[in-house]
Amino acid sequence: MKVFITRKIPDVAVELLRKKNINVIVYQKDKQLAQRELLKNVKDVDGVISLLSDKFDRTIIAQMKQCRIIANYAVGFNNIDIDFAKQKNIIVTNTPDVLTDATADLAVALTLSCARNIIEGENLVRNGKFKGWSPELLLGVELKDKIFGILGAGRIGTAAAIRAHAFGTKILYFSNSKNNYLELKTDAKKVSLDFLLKHSDIVSIHLPLTPKTFHLLSSDKLSLLKETAIIINTARGEIVDEKALIEFLKAKKIFSAGFDVYENEPHLNLELLKLKNVVLLPHIGSASFEARSKMAELAAKNIVSVLSGKAPLTRVN
Ligand code: DGY
Repeated sequence: MKVFITRKIPDVAVELLRKKNINVIVYQKDKQLAQRELLKNVKDVDGVISLLSDKFDRTIIAQMKQCRIIANYAVGFNNIDIDFAKQKNIIVTNTPDVLTDATADLAVALTLSCARNIIEGENLVRNGKFKGWSPELLLGVELKDKIFGILGAGRIGTAAAIRAHAFGTKILYFSNSKNNYLELKTDAKKVSLDFLLKHSDIVSIHLPLTPKTFHLLSSDKLSLLKETAIIINTARGEIVDEKALIEFLKAKKIFSAGFDVYENEPHLNLELLKLKNVVLLPHIGSASFEARSKMAELAAKNIVSVLSGKAPLTRVN
């Protein structure tokens, strides 16, 4: 059996696979594989561990002659045509749960960074501009009694809301289904998208990217936000119309935005770099030692299960 891993990930994955006598090939360059190179490497493998930046479209999947599983090293799987994979009898799995805390931590870190000008303050000190305590230096807002609205109340949204609630925020959520656990823990209220956008002080995005959620936050929806609102996106860039959001930030129609993800990753809209009221991170939601090691283990376990004829642990198609 042969398994290709599209980039170096924590050793636990390779160890687990080799213990089962699987021939593991790890792509050695620390950069995203071009589609041509991806194809060359996955054509004749039995399984793949892929990253969220690897695009498994129809062209690639159609030529994977003997592959039985694509184990995505991420909770999101919008980089894979899962329906076409299913047609080709390829199981697709993801890595839920194990990165929930890391990503929820980051959503709160971005919230605090935006609310309290943390990055701007750091830059000021680094650039030698700290001239001593000043009554009006970098005033921000407190979280207590603010409304924290989450779009998507799945695992990560719920964990982010529980953290935010510990800071004294009230929780609103927009979701297809009622989340009894979240309501019990935080007294959260399930509301419509428009209501949430109109009333929230912080809007944190935790939805998967699907055709339905693409540009869910359009210019029209963004215009519902308060002038003091903060938007946090640790989900997928394409859920927000990024160009429209930049215009809102430029015109100071909202207070600030924290980005961990972008619409055309890894390409950045350079207008973002000109803005002071943004915090820009390089898609590190799950980047904790703990999460990444558990993600590697889970992806490898999914491969082992499928290649030994058992059911995968976390199938998505
Ligand atoms: C994922 O795994 O899908 C997230 O983007 C982690 O940051």
